[in-house]
Amino acid sequence: MSYQLPTLATRRMRALVLAMAVLGVVTLAGAENPFTPQQLTTQLEQIRSNDVAYKAAVRGGAERVAFCSYCHGKDGNSVKPEVPKLAGQNAKYLFNQFERFAEGERKNFVMQELADQLSAQDRINIAIYYSSLPVSVEPVDATLASNGKIIYDTLCHVCHGPDGHGKDEYPRLAGQKPDYVALTLRAFRDAASKHSDPTMLQVATTLSDDNVDAISAYVGTLP
Ligand code: HEC
Ligand code: HEC
Repeated sequence: MSYQLPTLATRRMRALVLAMAVLGVVTLAGAENPFTPQQLTTQLEQIRSNDVAYKAAVRGGAERVAFCSYCHGKDGNSVKPEVPKLAGQNAKYLFNQFERFAEGERKNFVMQELADQLSAQDRINIAIYYSSLPVSVEPVDATLASNGKIIYDTLCHVCHGPDGHGKDEYPRLAGQKPDYVALTLRAFRDAASKHSDPTMLQVATTLSDDNVDAISAYVGTLP
């Protein structure tokens, strides 16, 4: 097994996460819970279909995201190019990503540290909270976007929906930050992806850089 020395940036980030934990901004609950991811997904569905439980989850989530908003934006609409918007994202997809980060199947240092520390309850509440927020649309070049629509309607709509809203574990792309979408698509294409799901690796192999920019602009404009 090889051991890599953490870079300075990684060490700073680790110190930041620990400091946040000490201040009580993130819970170091230790992700101990008796439920399987499948059982938790069922719980998430049950909460979403019960009005009272849903509202309580939204409130519970809102209380846990102070630290997240530093990168993902106060209202879940990130303004950082490499950071995805979470507002309006499908709850099941969000919840699944926590599992993936926590299990190390999807790799991003900060997100892995954080996901690992969130309790199962927090993951459910935060997923429901962000999915309840409205996503903002992105101002983009209109010609680029109309080129993107043609490719999107051919290659992407089957899974991500004709309106880009996705469904369940298929992520919403509508309104997502074009920079993040482009970055993520190139990573899928170049097999440099830190997502674990092999589906997108297949899809993205055929995309040129121009295709990527056009699709990313198009989905950003979708409400
Ligand atoms: C230091 C910045 C930073 C902080 C703080 C942060 N994130 Fe993230 N988050 C990121 C980045 C960057 C990505 C994209 C990683 C990638 O490219 O795979 C991400 C990805 C995600 C994703 C996957 C979204 C998608 O569209 O696939 C979720 C869910 C998420 N973060 C939730 C959270 C939550 C909840 C918190 C707070 C507990 C949080 N993040 C705090 C930077 C951050
Ligand atoms: C066969 C189904 C399928 C098709 C077709 C498909 N996708 Fe996906 N896509 C997925 C799944 C499933 C995921 C979630 C992967 C994961 O959880 O890691 C995903 C994830 C993504 C993500 C990452 C979202 C995020 O928030 O991190 C982007 C961007 C994306 N797809 C864009 C596209 C584009 C653009 C096309 C068309 C060129 C496309 N997809 C076609 C199934 C599909």
